[in-house]
Amino acid sequence: KGFLQILGRVTLVTIVAATGTFVYISQKDRYPGSQLPFDPEKKTLVVLGSGWGATSLLKGLDTTNFNTIVVSPKNFFLFTPLLPSVAVGTLNPRSIIQSTRYITRFKSRQVAVIEAEAKEIDPINKTVTFSDNSEIQGQVSSTTIPYDYLVYAVGAEVQTFGIPGVKENACFMKELHDAERMQRRFLDCVESAAFPGQSDDEKDRLLHMVVVGGGPTGIELSGELHDFLEDDLKNWYPELASRIRITLVEALPSVLPTFSKELIQYTVSTFKESKIDIMTKTMVKEVKEKSVVLQMPDKSIKEVPCGMVVWAAGNKGRQITQDLMAKLPEDQTNKRGITVDDHLRMKGTNGSIFAIGDCTATSYAPTAQVASQQGAYIARILALLAKKDALEAKLTASDADADTIRKKISKIKPKPFHYSHQGSLAYIGSDKAIADLPIFGREWASGGVATFLFWRSAYLSTLFSLRNRTLVASDWVRVKLFGRDVSRE
Ligand code: FAD
Ligand code: NAI
Repeated sequence: KGFLQILGRVTLVTIVAATGTFVYISQKDRYPGSQLPFDPEKKTLVVLGSGWGATSLLKGLDTTNFNTIVVSPKNFFLFTPLLPSVAVGTLNPRSIIQSTRYITRFKSRQVAVIEAEAKEIDPINKTVTFSDNSEIQGQVSSTTIPYDYLVYAVGAEVQTFGIPGVKENACFMKELHDAERMQRRFLDCVESAAFPGQSDDEKDRLLHMVVVGGGPTGIELSGELHDFLEDDLKNWYPELASRIRITLVEALPSVLPTFSKELIQYTVSTFKESKIDIMTKTMVKEVKEKSVVLQMPDKSIKEVPCGMVVWAAGNKGRQITQDLMAKLPEDQTNKRGITVDDHLRMKGTNGSIFAIGDCTATSYAPTAQVASQQGAYIARILALLAKKDALEAKLTASDADADTIRKKISKIKPKPFHYSHQGSLAYIGSDKAIADLPIFGREWASGGVATFLFWRSAYLSTLFSLRNRTLVASDWVRVKLFGRDVSRE
């Protein structure tokens, strides 16, 4: 009895201590202190974007070196790898976003965060023009500012290839509002199918979900839709669930071309078990309101009725990127995006513009991994440039140590950007994930439930803040306990 009492007390003390520590850690980071104001002596650094590249840069940036201004139409960072989970209600939308101010307000020197869209960049006169495109605007909604250094990290937009009906009739899976819209549309299809008097053909149409693109986005989304169907819809719509169909359409001969052969095979067989139809060598030619037009492998055309089309067919450069490149026609000739040198300086800008992430055309895949490593690299480069500027300022101020200072300046030689690939991970539904991991110089392929646990822990630790980690973990527990919500907002 005595032992049990002691054990009980020890457990209680442990729980109280753990809760106290957790509260302390979360409170400690909650309230930012005071910051140094802008210094007219410092150079102006303008950062365009608040995605993977820009946020990683801001995390690593020593803001005492610059007057930093961040311009982005979204005042938050979106953790894209978990976006498909939002589309089916596994995660709440706010669990995977983080206000940019949560990062900048903890910096030593203040950082101006402006919710606006850059409209024009003048690389010759070094200015950026941006405007507030939100619903509510004040007296001033557009302005132009000068910069000394510009970090260009505006990402990319959805590639539709000009295919008719895509913009009008398909859902995308790129931004947070895309996932929310898809969730509403999906549940609308299910509720409309449940409407009394619906014919069997119409039910089958409404409950046929077509995902276009067999890249990682299309695969992960199909897996999430399958989970929603198996875990929840079968219980709440038992009369309809057996009619729900998921079809994945891919133009190439295989899905997931960047993953190893065995993992492609594993995904295909898992999808087969999950009754997700994969149609390869099949190209979407048109998306209509109630159907999708396909070019089949034998080149015949087939119109397939469906309730929802999700377009996950890749990305292309934004208009502003094309406009910027057009201003430097000699150096910027790659249609895929901005050409940079090995220090990520945009060619033709004399080192005043750094371009990172999906807006660039490099040998790296357009991934979060690449963008975030590039952002961290630019933070280091900017620290070196600031050091060089400070030494150069000293040089003009006094001649006494001129030689020593010049020597120090000559030693500042930034290394080229080097990408370190940490592996590729993707969720494929049914509590299974796939992973291609480089271990001791070899590619190690793994798939299954254990990989799914690894996938979860990898993304949980990659999330940007303790707040995000707590929210995502509690969403996973919520879904395990209560299932996903089928209410339609
Ligand atoms: P983004 O992160 O897209 O950021 C661009 C920023 O620029 C945004 O804040 C945007 O609001 C802002 N912006 C846009 N226009 C303007 C403008 N005119 N002026 C100023 N700012 C502007 N990669 C992985 O490595 N692993 C994954 O698991 C993974 N999963 C993904 C899942 C999904 C559903 C998607 C869509 C992508 C996924 N990716 C993944 C790819 C990854 O998200 C991108 O490669 C990454 O976001 C690129 O970072 P970026 O900074 O270049 O662009
Ligand atoms: P993607 O470019 O990788 O794949 C798009 C697919 O759509 C291609 O396979 C293409 O052949 C197909 N397609 C294009 N047009 C088509 C048409 N008309 N009909 C049928 N199929 C068509 O795009 P995705 O998946 O959005 O990925 C974009 C980037 O983000 C990639 O670099 C990817 O690696 C990264 N990403 C990584 C993830 C991960 O690592 N888990 C998850 C999601 C994205």
